Amino acid sequence: MATGKTFYLKTFGCQMNAHDSEKVIGTLEQQGYRQVESEEEAGLILYNTCSVRDKAEQKVFNRLNDAKKLFKTGARFGVLGCVAQQQGEKIFERAPFVSLVSGSASYRNLPKMLARLEAGERRITGLDGCQSGETFETGFTARQNPYRGYITIIEGCDNFCSYCVVPYARGRERSRGSASVLAEARRIADLGYTEIQLLGQNVNSYRDPEGKRSFAELLAAVGEVAGIRRVRFMTSHPRDFTREIVQAIDAVPTLCDHVHLPVQSGSSRILQLMNRGYTREDYLERVSWIKAARRPIALSTDIIVGFPGETPSDFNATMELLAQVEYDSLFGYKYSSRPDTPASTMADSVSESEKAARLQVLLDRQRESQRISYSKQLGQILEVMVEGVNPAREQIIGRSSQNKPVNFTCAQPITPAPGSYLQVKITATHPNSLAGEAV
Ligand code: 5AD
Ligand code: SF4
Repeated sequence: MATGKTFYLKTFGCQMNAHDSEKVIGTLEQQGYRQVESEEEAGLILYNTCSVRDKAEQKVFNRLNDAKKLFKTGARFGVLGCVAQQQGEKIFERAPFVSLVSGSASYRNLPKMLARLEAGERRITGLDGCQSGETFETGFTARQNPYRGYITIIEGCDNFCSYCVVPYARGRERSRGSASVLAEARRIADLGYTEIQLLGQNVNSYRDPEGKRSFAELLAAVGEVAGIRRVRFMTSHPRDFTREIVQAIDAVPTLCDHVHLPVQSGSSRILQLMNRGYTREDYLERVSWIKAARRPIALSTDIIVGFPGETPSDFNATMELLAQVEYDSLFGYKYSSRPDTPASTMADSVSESEKAARLQVLLDRQRESQRISYSKQLGQILEVMVEGVNPAREQIIGRSSQNKPVNFTCAQPITPAPGSYLQVKITATHPNSLAGEAV
């Protein structure tokens, strides 16, 4: 076993998970643990897991399997996050060398669980409180992202989309008071961050427990915090997306020109089976609000192909929707049956090869569409926030307000720090990124 109290943490899944890891790291550091870069160096090996698709879950068990030899040399294992909450003690059966299983709603109990682990206990669970436990960040949150400060504004999800594991992995919806969100935003600004991302499984169903602000009002208020130059938010549910959000983006220049609005399918019939609560027409109406904004707002989406019962004509409706909306970016997934979800009892009727074929058609079409739309930015000068460098290509990596990756060169000998802003002239465009030079 490595000397001192050391831990290694690997995060799978979404930004909610990435941010939860920042809270876990902060808590561990406060308990005297030091973070190390590899499993081999660590006394405590933690995986913060995702169960959104079967593949994501497989990855965790593969990783556990690869590392289990370290148990013999004294390392202890913990499984955190969505797989932990959903599978609970079954994890001990599948991976008997694991000592700790905890869902996100129990992270506030981590110090106690760590003490029990240190005392040699072999089966520790934190699986309670999924209905109420909040994991909003505290003063201990160890922010890892050098240029973006995350703030959780709402936890859990009450939508019960028929394919989705999230309500079982993260429990019921609970919103954080807007005064607390704004205090966190000011704290982040004081730390030197200029970009904030508001997080929630469905930020649009935010309900201020203090009754002071709607989501759109909260968004605008965060955008007005002194020192903040960019505000993003994830994820929007189309059913709850309001015109006021577009009006807020219009009114407050710091709110980024980007909305992620997962449609999942372009077929109203499939949307109903998915229990999404909107039709294709409802969705397109929201898109029309976004497209009517004063600034061009980039739109991105998530799509599932091969949902149970999806016919070629349903899939075609999705392809037509793509042509109509012209997304700036798209995440496509093959439907994956998840335990406990209503869709898992529907016949998984689309074959694996048909799912793969539909996904390929979808991604090819999207690539072509982005090739055309990104080329329209040629010659423009964009404000880019630096995220890092690509030493191999001697390029700086950044992002536009529209969330498009921009790779660029800079004549100055000093490399700009992550989080700084530069004006970049776009000199080449690709389907998934822009290239240019700082001016
Ligand atoms: N199968 C495939 N994709 C899924 N997603 C959520 N659940 C599933 C599932 N069971 C996708 C949705 C969601 C994104 C985060 O993951 O598109 O928006
Ligand atoms: Fe994965 Fe969903 Fe959990 Fe995020 S909330 S880690 S996407 S299962």
